[in-house]
Order: sequence, then structure tokens, then C-alpha cells
Amino acid sequence: MNYRLLKQDINLKPFMTMPPQFNRKTIVMRTDKVYKCEIINIVELTGLEKLFHLKILDPVEREIFSFRPGQFIMLEVPGFGEVPISVSSSSNNREFIELCIRKSGRTTNMLHRAKKGAKVGIRGPFGTSFPMEEMAGNNVLLIAGGLGLAPLRAPLYWVIERRDEYRDVAVLYGTKEPEQMLFTYQYEEWEKVNHVKLLTIVEKADKDWKGRTGLITELFEEINIDPDNTYVIVCGPPVMFKFVCNHLDSLGIPMNRMFVSLERRMHCGMGKCCRCMVGSTFTCVDGPVFDYWSVLNLQEAI
Ligand SMILES: Cc1cc2nc3c(=O)[nH]c(=O)nc-3n(C[C@H](O)[C@H](O)[C@H](O)COP(=O)(O)OP(=O)(O)OC[C@H]3O[C@@H](n4cnc5c(N)ncnc54)[C@H](O)[C@@H]3O)c2cc1C
Ligand code: FES
Repeated sequence: MNYRLLKQDINLKPFMTMPPQFNRKTIVMRTDKVYKCEIINIVELTGLEKLFHLKILDPVEREIFSFRPGQFIMLEVPGFGEVPISVSSSSNNREFIELCIRKSGRTTNMLHRAKKGAKVGIRGPFGTSFPMEEMAGNNVLLIAGGLGLAPLRAPLYWVIERRDEYRDVAVLYGTKEPEQMLFTYQYEEWEKVNHVKLLTIVEKADKDWKGRTGLITELFEEINIDPDNTYVIVCGPPVMFKFVCNHLDSLGIPMNRMFVSLERRMHCGMGKCCRCMVGSTFTCVDGPVFDYWSVLNLQEAI
């Protein structure tokens, strides 16, 4: 197969770096283009999640491929299937992309059996993204539950790499048990080097656990939130959005400054199969990133 790019693909780069416009469908440029990748590194994060480093094989394609925080790709495990996965790395990293993947069904189980050097394919990037430029000059509050820290890493990298453009940055992270915490090896760097306030909490733990125990909303008691200058990103299970966003709403944060990433079962990722629809909204092209106001107007979204 020839992986040389057609000349018009060069136009992809400026388009993908444009800030998102809400209330407008994403224009998916090349939906059928498969970038052939090699798994160059695998980090075992927990018993269920692994971090895969994927390098696009063709150097020209590697240079052209770009994404924005919040976007996802369709990952093809040859012979097994294709799954939507959020990009978990810095959008500045042009060498490889990072995908944090939970072993859950047929395709992801197969991927967890892959070794370094295995070949996979990616399509995309797809979907809407977080309005990072709009957040500049404000406090940024990033809230994640469980696997939600994976999609949250891309906006966190964005802010860290432009740290002086943002005011206070805080990450609130909760899991069910301490063993489920992701990226623990990065916490010290985020706090000490990148000046990010990090608060973690688990729902239940044994007596050896020295950290906080409880629900993620209990962390709000430990931070000062200025409703006039704060943007919020929430990633995690829908039940968490509801409690977290309602609490933030009661503190006076406008709903159009709270952003959530909605996950629905997907098949095509490009607005063709209707698998991901909530009411008349396609979560693959109208989302996955929505402001909370839009989510509340989506029937059965949460
Ligand atoms: C926008 C988006 C971003 C995601 N990001 C991540 C991520 O960063 N890390 C991660 O581990 N998981 C992520 N998921 C969930 C991931 O896509 C599913 O866990 C995966 O599709 C399960 O596939 P499977 O074949 O192993 O499981 P099966 O249950 O065998 O699924 C069969 C097929 O159903 C569809 N499907 C099943 N579950 C989901 C699901 N939750 N969401 C969408 N399609 C699904 C897929 O097409 C899949 O191939 C994301 C989902 C979406 C929609
Ligand atoms: S996944 Fe096919 S329309 Fe959204």
C-alpha cells in the first residue's frame, strides 16, 4: 500500500490548529485516511490500563498529523476492529502519540496482548476539542474520575507548556481505589515543576492508604474557586459530571465555561452510522467535547 500523501493533505495542518467553534459541526477532512503506526513503547499503568506510544511510520505523514486536546482517533487493531480512543499526549509532540487504553472488550483485549514493534492503524483526529485559547488569562480547573485522566492529559500538557499564559491550574482526581490511579509517576513533576495544584481522593482504601478517602466533590472544600475567572474541564463517568457540574453551577461558574467529554458507543467516528447519537446530536462530530449548557439540552446525555 502506498502511504504517500496527496498534495491537498498539506492543508490539513492549519485547519486542525484552528480554535473550535461550538454550535457548529466539526468538519472532518480525511475520514478514510489510515495512518500506519508502530507501537514503540508500552507502559503498564494498572492491571487494566496500559499507555501505548504510537509512531506514525511515514515521516511526512508524521509531520502532518496534528490534533487538538479533547479530540479522539479511531484505532484499528488489524483483524480485530476499530475503537475510538482520546489522544492522551501533548499536541506539541510530533514524534509519537500516547493512548491510554483500558482492557474492556474484544479489540482492546487484543491490543493489550500486543508487543513493542506491533503495527496498528489510526484514522482521524475526530471530534470537537477544548477551547484552550479562550481559557488563557484565567484559572483552569481540570477534574477527572478514573480513566478520565487519560483525555485530561492533553489539555493539561497544553496549559503546562504555556504555563505563564494561565493563572492558577488545579487537577482534582478521584478513583474508586488507590490501585486504579493513573500516571502516578507524573504527579510530583506536575506539582513541583509545573506549579499545578493536584488533589487526589479514593472512594475506598485499606489502612495503609495515607491519602484522602471520599467522593471527588469533597475536594472542592480544599480549593478556592473564583467563578468569574475559572474555566473547568470534566472527564469521567457521566454520573460524575452531573454532581461535579451541579456543584460548580451552584458556585456561580457559567455553564458555558464548563466543558465535558461525552463518550458514546461509536462505530464510524464520522457522522455516518448514527451509532453515537443522543437525540439528534452525533457525539462523534458534534462532540465529544460539549459545554455543560449543551449537555443539559441533550436528552439522555447524562
Ligand atoms: C470519544 C471516545 C474516547 C474514548 N477514549 C478512550 C480512552 O482514551 N481510553 C480507553 O480505554 N477507552 C476510551 N474510550 C472507550 C473505548 O472506545 C471502548 O472501551 C472500546 O471501544 C471498547 O472496545 P472493545 O472492542 O475492546 O470492546 P467491545 O465491548 O467488544 O466493543 C465492540 C465495539 O463497540 C464499540 N464500543 C464499545 N464500547 C465503547 C465505548 N465505551 N465507546 C465507544 N465505542 C465503544 C467499539 O466500536 C468497539 O469496537 C473512548 C470512547 C469514546 C467514544
Ligand atoms: S460513530 Fe457513526 S455517526 Fe457517530
